[in-house]
Amino acid sequence: MKHFLSTETISKPDLESLLDLGDRFVEVLARPIPKVPALRGKTVAMLFFEPSTRTRMSFERAAKALSADTMSFSPGTSSLSKGESLKDTALTIKAMGADALVVRHKATGTPWRVADWTGLPVLNAGDGAHQHPTQALLDSLTIRRHFGTLDGLRIAIVGDIRHSRVARSDIWAFTTLGADVTLVAPRTLLPVDLEGWPVKTVDTIDDVLDGDVIYLLRIQTERGGASVLPSLAEYVERFGMTNERFDRLPEDSIVMHPGPMNRGVEISAAVADHPRALVEEQVANGVAVRMAVLLRLLGEEDVDV
Ligand code: NCD
Repeated sequence: MKHFLSTETISKPDLESLLDLGDRFVEVLARPIPKVPALRGKTVAMLFFEPSTRTRMSFERAAKALSADTMSFSPGTSSLSKGESLKDTALTIKAMGADALVVRHKATGTPWRVADWTGLPVLNAGDGAHQHPTQALLDSLTIRRHFGTLDGLRIAIVGDIRHSRVARSDIWAFTTLGADVTLVAPRTLLPVDLEGWPVKTVDTIDDVLDGDVIYLLRIQTERGGASVLPSLAEYVERFGMTNERFDRLPEDSIVMHPGPMNRGVEISAAVADHPRALVEEQVANGVAVRMAVLLRLLGEEDVDV
């Protein structure tokens, strides 16, 4: 594996082997000294052109837990504000000795371009509404650790699918691993064309309350998500995970959310804090799967963790 850009073409064995490695890193991270020397001497650079709390810190934590060094770039305080191009920025960071680049950008395809320009291994940390593949890995690992497998599970992804790179990455990973995926969204928040997507769609969250996993998404106001809704109150009425709906879910079902959550909109505050809402496990597993991907891209073949 040279880059980690998308879940759309990754094979089931490759996904499973990354998840297996992720499981081992969950154990490593639970040790008193949660660190292994696997990437000593390597440098991972973070290029985040869009806001991020958990993804950026998670990649930093993952790199450091593998003993790699990290460098960080912040667009607001950089020479981008003097008009330096994305390409020159990427090449400058390469010239400083980065061994891999973690890239988030609002424009679809940016991580692929950075990969071409620099020739370095690139990890996509979110490009526009297109892909967010490490999110799909951490979600898959969280589900697999809970149920033992994704095979045959019924997973509903609810909310602003149209603007969601999380949905686009999760759909491919979940279905490749054998799950049955249903999308739940107002018409205006579904992609215009679902041709080729391995999913079903339904019109209200009430239709999926007998499933195994309810995966809630944020309305992406920064990408125009709220402007196509009549009102947030109506959204909650047909799509919100309220306390009353949560009580109707099967007892072994789980609720997930990639964060940041809008409590009271897609998820009630009480559900967000419920033990069967695995939001914090998702975040914790994010460090482990990012370690797995970094090791695969930068490590020796049979390194002992
Ligand atoms: C998501 C993102 O940025 O794509 N957040 C994340 O990485 N956990 C989802 C979102 O912003 O709603």
